[in-house]
Amino acid sequence: MAEVNIIAAVASDGTIGKNGSIPWDIPEDRSYFRRLTTGNVCIMGRRTFESIGRPLPERQCIVVSSEREYTGEMLCSARSLREAIEKANAYITENSPSASIFLCGGSRIYSEGLELACRLYLTELDRPYHGDTLFPEFSSEDFICISRRSAETPGCTFAVYERTGNKKYTGKGECSMKLAEALQERADLNRNIAQLRERMCANAIVQENESPAEDPKDLLKELNSSIDRLQELMERINLTNSLVEYEGRTITQLIAQKDCLKVRISAYKSLVSDASQTGHRARMTEIKLLSTVDVKKLQSEIDKMSKELRFLDNTIQSLNWTTELK
Ligand SMILES: NC(=O)c1ccc[n+]([C@@H]2O[C@H](COP(=O)([O-])OP(=O)(O)OC[C@H]3O[C@@H](n4cnc5c(N)ncnc54)[C@H](OP(=O)(O)O)[C@@H]3O)[C@@H](O)[C@H]2O)c1
Repeated sequence: MAEVNIIAAVASDGTIGKNGSIPWDIPEDRSYFRRLTTGNVCIMGRRTFESIGRPLPERQCIVVSSEREYTGEMLCSARSLREAIEKANAYITENSPSASIFLCGGSRIYSEGLELACRLYLTELDRPYHGDTLFPEFSSEDFICISRRSAETPGCTFAVYERTGNKKYTGKGECSMKLAEALQERADLNRNIAQLRERMCANAIVQENESPAEDPKDLLKELNSSIDRLQELMERINLTNSLVEYEGRTITQLIAQKDCLKVRISAYKSLVSDASQTGHRARMTEIKLLSTVDVKKLQSEIDKMSKELRFLDNTIQSLNWTTELK
């Protein structure tokens, strides 16, 4: 069973809709919605689907309606939310094992979906819109905020809530995996995939009337399932890194800062090393070589950057062990 998530943009008075549409237009939120839902399954009520007017590209769309039927490319309908989730799981098993389910509104889908959801991705707007369609209330005992990031759009915050404690819905049985455990599993999978490749190739041909020590078809099956699992993990690691923040910077930003710091330190060290080769060089005439840079100053900058690198490394390590994989 795939994870069920809720995604919604909610005003401070709970408004999600007004007169059949969304009473705001925030391009940054549309991009966020697209980024999170692309490649996954979107379930929505009939009115929400009609207000969008077309299936969402690159997403399997399931419209819930007790009366109407929808069919098309990447489009189907269901009579209830339960039926929609069953159809979503069947689609995911068959086509995209790493995909998740996103409940995209409106209010009844959200109300019924709160029971099932593992995570809520809420874009919170800091002003009321006095709409006619509201997001259901949920208890902080059931969901805790695990990430909150100010959007560039003023008054708009991207928040992620996760189901708490023993009520946690474990669609894939993995909601509670730590980021560090996922990174370890990713490294193991990469090693396993490299070994499987070698074993497959070693058994790719045999002498006439002989059979291979291992059946390449079985190995290929194992390879494919390892790669599917790797893709699922990589997507979730990337999602986690882009959502979790430490002092206003996401893990993705901290990793980029760390990697670039390493590049900078390495370049500075080369320069210091070459600039330190001063002295006399015997040629036709004796030439005195002088450094063109302040080696002492550069060395002290290297020391400062190395200290910063150690701090960043420790911070990322401890975030890996305290962060739940999304
Ligand atoms: N801010 C946001 O993030 C956001 C997200 C989505 C929507 N919206 C807004 O919300 C409004 C639409 O939401 P809404 O609550 O009015 O309508 P909706 O949930 O989109 O659609 C309601 C219809 O969906 C079907 N339906 C929903 N739940 C069902 C269930 N459990 N079983 C069977 N059928 C079910 C029924 O269709 P039938 O009548 O055909 O049986 C029902 O009349 C719009 O204003 C839209 O723009 C906002």
